[in-house]
Amino acid sequence: MDALRVGIAGLGTVGAEVVRVIERQQRTLAARCGRPIRVVAVTARSKTKKRGLDLRGIAWAKSPLALATDPNIDCFVELIGGAGDPAGPAIEAALAAGKSVVTANKALVAKHGLKLAALAEKHAVALNYEAAVGAAIPVIKTLREGLAGTDIERVYGILNGTCNYILTRMEQEGLSFDACLADAQRLGYAEADPTFDIDGHDTAQKLSILASLAFGTKVSESSVYVEGIRSITPEDLRAADDLGYRVKLLGVAVRTAKGIEQRVHPTMVPKASSIAQVMGVTNAVSIDGDGIAPITLVGAGAGSAATASAVVADIADVARGIRAEPFGRPVAKLAAISKAPMQRHEGGYYLRLLARDHAGTAATIATRLAEQEISIESIVQRHAASTTDGAGTPAKSSPVPVILITYATSEDAVRRAIQAVQRDKVISGRPQVIRIEKN
Ligand code: HSE
Repeated sequence: MDALRVGIAGLGTVGAEVVRVIERQQRTLAARCGRPIRVVAVTARSKTKKRGLDLRGIAWAKSPLALATDPNIDCFVELIGGAGDPAGPAIEAALAAGKSVVTANKALVAKHGLKLAALAEKHAVALNYEAAVGAAIPVIKTLREGLAGTDIERVYGILNGTCNYILTRMEQEGLSFDACLADAQRLGYAEADPTFDIDGHDTAQKLSILASLAFGTKVSESSVYVEGIRSITPEDLRAADDLGYRVKLLGVAVRTAKGIEQRVHPTMVPKASSIAQVMGVTNAVSIDGDGIAPITLVGAGAGSAATASAVVADIADVARGIRAEPFGRPVAKLAAISKAPMQRHEGGYYLRLLARDHAGTAATIATRLAEQEISIESIVQRHAASTTDGAGTPAKSSPVPVILITYATSEDAVRRAIQAVQRDKVISGRPQVIRIEKN
């Protein structure tokens, strides 16, 4: 059979690695796909940059758009990134020209995936994006194909390596947030703008894609409630540890009686849960569904080799002639998302309040929680070293952290109780609220 002729737009660390993997694995790929895969053309911003690649015999296209419509390629691989120009128009042009497309571009899939999927359907070509979520972890295929016969109730996970790396090092080495972020950037995990990682938007885009595949709904990034990890302190991580939890930035999509919740926030997970074992830059996705018991996929969620692994697997599907609907069903059959309001979210909560160390403070806090029918599972008053005198006795007038774990309640009730406590002026500073997710 003729070789699949591939054109690659973008020769950054991932693009260059894809070229290397296709070269290195050529025999295996040909055996697995029943035909060879050849990179025949590439394009990138700089033609002269040193990449350690042998590009002899490979054509250089003058732009992504020119490559996308090059009659000498069958499959257009977009590794430029970004939701706009040039990635978006180039993918549209390739699909319209009847070429299958492989991309690692989560922003583009989250924002314009439906339009692109409709175009792919119209031209009966593939639009594969396994690398967009969880890099080497085959989670798109798992949801779309492996679980095609299963009703999925919840999909959640650690979808951002940078955040998990930061939280892990803060927890294990007691390092500052800034020092850990700088290391994540140095190691190449973080996005060009790391605020995208640490404020949760990277996770939100990935989650919106998983939710669409899990629930057969239209991708809706704007329906995701998002909180990042900036507010997490070493003190929260220590308290979580004492209480039998770890803090992870989770993306959670769950079907509830009120609609589909999609939320990204720092989350306390029981230390014994599978998701709590996932440390460093590793990603993990857990799927709960009808009769399948939870499935947890764990693996490298960032980095050039992990991303290239998924990109090459997607190219291999094109070579084999496998074409799945990009979101698991025709675009016309995807339902509009029925969004569950965040204030109606129900679960346990961790609250850390900086309380005035006066008689009656704990009673006031407990009363305000009781008024909202919030039941307390545990309450601890922690005297930080700085709030003790030389003899270790707490300095009476300094505020002290009070840490509470609640039984399941609603977001709304928690917000109302905190507002009431603030009005009572028994706490200072910003209350810390971390949701608890049970497995
Ligand atoms: N910045 C992302 C992460 C890379 O840290 O997980 C993969 O999308």
